[in-house]
Amino acid sequence: MSSKILIIGACGQIGSELTYKLRNLFGDDNVVASDINTSNLDISNTGIFEIVDAQDFTSVKNCVEKHHVDTVYLMAAMLSATGEKFPEKAWNLNMNSLFHVLNLAKDKIIKKIFWPSSIAVFGPTTPTKYTPQYTTTEPTTVYGITKQVGERWCEYYFNKYHVDVRSIRYPGIISWKTLPGGGTTDYAVEIYHEAVKTKQYECFLKADTELPMMFMDDAIKATVDIMMAKPEDIKIRSSYNLAAISFTPQQVAASIKKHIPDFEVVYTPDFRQDIANSWPKSINDSYARQDWKWKHTFLLEDITQEMLFQLGKKYNTISKTPQ
Ligand code: SER
Repeated sequence: MSSKILIIGACGQIGSELTYKLRNLFGDDNVVASDINTSNLDISNTGIFEIVDAQDFTSVKNCVEKHHVDTVYLMAAMLSATGEKFPEKAWNLNMNSLFHVLNLAKDKIIKKIFWPSSIAVFGPTTPTKYTPQYTTTEPTTVYGITKQVGERWCEYYFNKYHVDVRSIRYPGIISWKTLPGGGTTDYAVEIYHEAVKTKQYECFLKADTELPMMFMDDAIKATVDIMMAKPEDIKIRSSYNLAAISFTPQQVAASIKKHIPDFEVVYTPDFRQDIANSWPKSINDSYARQDWKWKHTFLLEDITQEMLFQLGKKYNTISKTPQ
């Protein structure tokens, strides 16, 4: 029997693009997309789709058994900014869902897990530049705490029960297909939408706030690559540092202005500034590059061109090809 994949949280920013990619790679019949609701019709109406509540063990297990799933990508999570508004909900969702899939693997009902961690595992006591893989992790957000603790549990289940769980610490992810929700790095997506729609953006971070970022295509490539790697090449079973580029809001604005000269940004930092200040500015991801040959492709200018082109088509503001 061929491998069967379940994506939990398939309607979200990363889950949706991962679903398209995995359907392409392995065929529509081998990929089950699931989410708590059908909010993303492009996903729920275009292939196998199930309503799954990631917090409900029976709901997850029933879906796994119904479709003979052996590999789970757990993409459901509450992100950093929303997590600060609903700390208990963030803890429950992020931790319960992880335990459910880890326990399914421990009981040999599934074989392989992808679980995303984040730069949010780091905190104010972490070195901010070129942050190493092994360093102080004292996160100050609930989201960061769930990711840091989740990493420990992943490694524990690998060591103790031989669970094949693989993870990367995503930086901020920039994409045009599905909007992110509730993250601190979301400005780097919103800014492109507003540039195309209104040529104005009110940024919730200060102009010089540098954060690690990555284009969606690179993030999906990393996710697929780590899952396809030979088990012996995955030497870190907590979570790998992963990096592409780093930039500030001011730098994105400048790259957009090259294409839309009258684009204006005002900076009105809110509570998310404190979160951003606690995270690294750049990441050392040499273990990922060494162990499973990770390599990024997209630089800021590439991202800007692609975002403006795709969003221009979406909002009907351009009719030309990218320059
Ligand atoms: N993008 C996430 C957030 O901003 C970080 O992993 O919450």
